[in-house]
Order: sequence, then structure tokens, then C-alpha cells
Amino acid sequence: MDRIRIRGGRPLKGTIPIGGAKNAALPLMTASLLTEGTLTLSNLPHLADIATLLHLLQRHGVTVSMNGADGNEGHAGRVLSLTAGEIASTEAPYDVVRKMRASVLVLGPLLARCGRARVSLPGGCAIGPRPVDLHLKGLAALGAEIDLRDGYIHAAAPRGLAGATVRFPTVSVGATENLLMAATLARGETVLENAAREPEVSDLARCLVAMGAEIEGIGTDRLRVRGVRALRGTDYRVLPDRIETGTYAVAAAITGGDLVLTGIDGTLMGAVFEALAEAGVTVEQPGGEEGEAVRVAAGGRVRGVDLVTRPFPGFPTDMQAQMMALMATAEGTSTIVETIFENRLMHVPELLRMGADITVRGGTAIVRGVPALKGAPVMATDLRASVSLVLAGLAAEGDTEVSRVYHLDRGYERLEEKLAACGADIERIEG
Ligand code: EPZ
Repeated sequence: MDRIRIRGGRPLKGTIPIGGAKNAALPLMTASLLTEGTLTLSNLPHLADIATLLHLLQRHGVTVSMNGADGNEGHAGRVLSLTAGEIASTEAPYDVVRKMRASVLVLGPLLARCGRARVSLPGGCAIGPRPVDLHLKGLAALGAEIDLRDGYIHAAAPRGLAGATVRFPTVSVGATENLLMAATLARGETVLENAAREPEVSDLARCLVAMGAEIEGIGTDRLRVRGVRALRGTDYRVLPDRIETGTYAVAAAITGGDLVLTGIDGTLMGAVFEALAEAGVTVEQPGGEEGEAVRVAAGGRVRGVDLVTRPFPGFPTDMQAQMMALMATAEGTSTIVETIFENRLMHVPELLRMGADITVRGGTAIVRGVPALKGAPVMATDLRASVSLVLAGLAAEGDTEVSRVYHLDRGYERLEEKLAACGADIERIEG
């Protein structure tokens, strides 16, 4: 398994291009199942999760063509065309779904398009059991017959889906996306209440509208969908990755550096940029035009800030580990509360090995900043925990070696290349 070695203490300086959002690209790709037309997605990031989902979609009978746009040094995202002319299989097998939970997003589209689906239960993952009960209850409300047996979800809607009102007891990004896609082809009107407002959900909704869906309330927690008989293909550009943006912004802050991040969407960054500014980091955004840039520069040692993770537009759980690495080197103490996932503080023991001073009680971490972290061998456990260890390594004195970096490859495109281009002493050790 590959490892990443980092020799810390070098301030990052330069420009980093931000790619398309993994968590928008994945549901957008499953939307191709809803139509026999061709869905062409641009600004698609090069990530392991995208490849995993591509293989699953091809098993369903989707034909795929990829023509990497070789724009500026290959940093431009790929262009991917997906055509589900006919569905060859409505099964999503365990060996695929266990690798990537987002595979469960084929459930709604397959039910809507074919009236049946057999999708493996995703099983838990490092950050918690992550059930799909909200997905299943919602689809049942649209008339699907759901049967759980031998580790699979057997879903059927022989007479098609019928619109209904679905009220989510808690906010769920994936359940909102599955229901939104299913509702586009259901008979009549569906209302999703307490829907997730994450920008990736809105990106999916806007793409579905471009495919002919009738959706109102995009960006709010109440989505109204009027079912249509069929959807068509379209061309759609994946929105910038707000978590990648936030991650590199923290890289600038934690190394005392000065980075320009290009191709971002500043309107997605409210809570993250506010937290960084409160910590004393300079965040300068020139005009608010499309594909904008932001300059992030450390203004001396950061100050501790308190954070609570919340559904959008609150502080994103996917940025919690990265901000904790920054707070570990801050002046003062910060309290970080993880409210979305049961077990998303596994980066703490690894940061402690690097000399951080953190106490965990339930979902709350009390982080007392230390003047400097010390390099150490550490292990990645999930995507965002692994990148927080890389960030800590960039700031630490001495060498840090992060193992199990396959977690990183799921969500960060050419991470070590982008960091090395800005002065980081970082290399991937194969094998
Ligand atoms: C999406 O996961 C993201 N993944 C996650 O990003 C992100 O952390 C999460 O939303 C929250 O923003 C993708 O978009 C591919 P949820 P998802 O359904 O949809 C519970 C990353 O690092 N829940 O909003 O799986 C669940 O256990 C990943 O890029 C139920 O109880 O998240 C969790 O505690 C990690 N029943 C909470 O809700 C359900 O049926 C939020 O989950 C569904 C979810």
C-alpha cells in the first residue's frame, strides 16, 4: 500500500486549481440511468470513487466515453459522456457497494426507470454505521415495495412510482438525492420536506431540470417535483469542490503560507471562510464571477475557534478533521463538536501521536493549541481524516509518514503533486 512522506515546516506559496466536486459528480453520474439520452458531464475530477462508480454504471448497461480535456497542464477536469440506452442489469453487487457507499444512489434511478432494483446494503464504514433507512422509507412512500434479505435491498415498483410527501426526520444528503431522482419520473407531485440543502444536492437538481425534470425550491429544504414521462440527455458542468477548496485553504494557513486557489465558487464557502477569518487567516476574494479565485494567507499563528458541524449552510462535517489539524497548532483552545456522524474523530489519536493536545468526550473534542507538532508515522482511517494528517505533517517539525493513502485517492486528485508545486517537501512511496 502506498504511503506519503512529508518533511514539514515549509510555508506553501503558489496557485492551486480546484477540481469538480466528488460529492456532486457521483449523484450526477447516477442520474444518467434516468434517461436513454446522453448525459455529458464536464469538470469531472480524476478520482478513485469516480472510477468505481463508472464500473458499476457500465454493469448496469451504461455506455461511457471519456475525453480528458487537456487544458492547462491537464488540470482541467475530464469530460465524460454516459448513455443508458437500455438497462442491462438492475443489480448493484456487494463487492462494489461495500467499496463505495455512494453506489446506493443507483437505487432511486433504477426504480424510476425500470421499476425494480437489487442493491447491496452498503454496510458500515469507518465513520459510522451509516444506514439507508431514510432512503428506503422515502422510496416506500412513493409506492416502492422494499424487502431486505441476504444483505440486499430488493425494491420493486411494478406499477411505477407515485408522487407523495416525504418528510425526512433528519437531514440526509444521499436520501434527498435518491428521492429527488426517483420523483422526477413518478406519477404526480412529490414534496421532500427537511431536504438537504448541500450545494451538491442543488447541483443535481439543476442538472435534472436541464434534463427536463420539473423541480421547484432548489437550494431550500423543501423540494417540489412534478413527475414527467421521460427525461432527456444534457451537457452539465460539475460545480467546484468546496471541500477541496477548504482543504487547501487550511494548507495555506497551517504552513504559514500564501496560496491562490482558482476555479472555486465562493458562494459555497461561507461557513468555512468565516471560520478561517475568525482564526485570523487572511481570506481575500476578488469579484464574485464564475470560476473565481481566492487568496488565503496566514497572518501569523492562528487563534483557536469553536466549531460545530451542521448540515449546509452550517460548518461542513467534511471539513472538521482538516480544521482540527489547524486548531491543534493554534493560540488558545478550541471546542469542536461533530454532530453529523457518530464516529468521525478517529484522526484524534493520530494527531496525538504528533504531539497535539486534544481531549475527546463523546462527539466533542477540546483542542489546546501547541506551538508545533512533531512528525511521526501515522495511519489514515477515512478520506478526510487522512488529509488532516497530511496537513498536520506539512506543519510539523521533522518527517511524517501517512500510511493507507488509498483513502486519500478516493477524494483528492494528485494531492502530493499540487502541494509539491507550491513548495511542500512531499512524496508518495509506492508499495
Ligand atoms: C454525503 O454522505 C457525503 N458523501 C459525505 O461525504 C458527507 O459527509 C455527508 O453527505 C454529510 O454531508 C457523498 O455525497 C457521496 P447523509 P451521505 O445521508 O449522503 C445518517 C466525504 O468525505 N443517515 O447526509 O451518506 C448518517 O448515518 C463523504 O466526501 C441515516 O441515519 O450522508 C449520518 O449520520 C463522507 N439514515 C447522517 O445521517 C439514512 O438513511 C448524515 O448522512 C441516511 C443517513
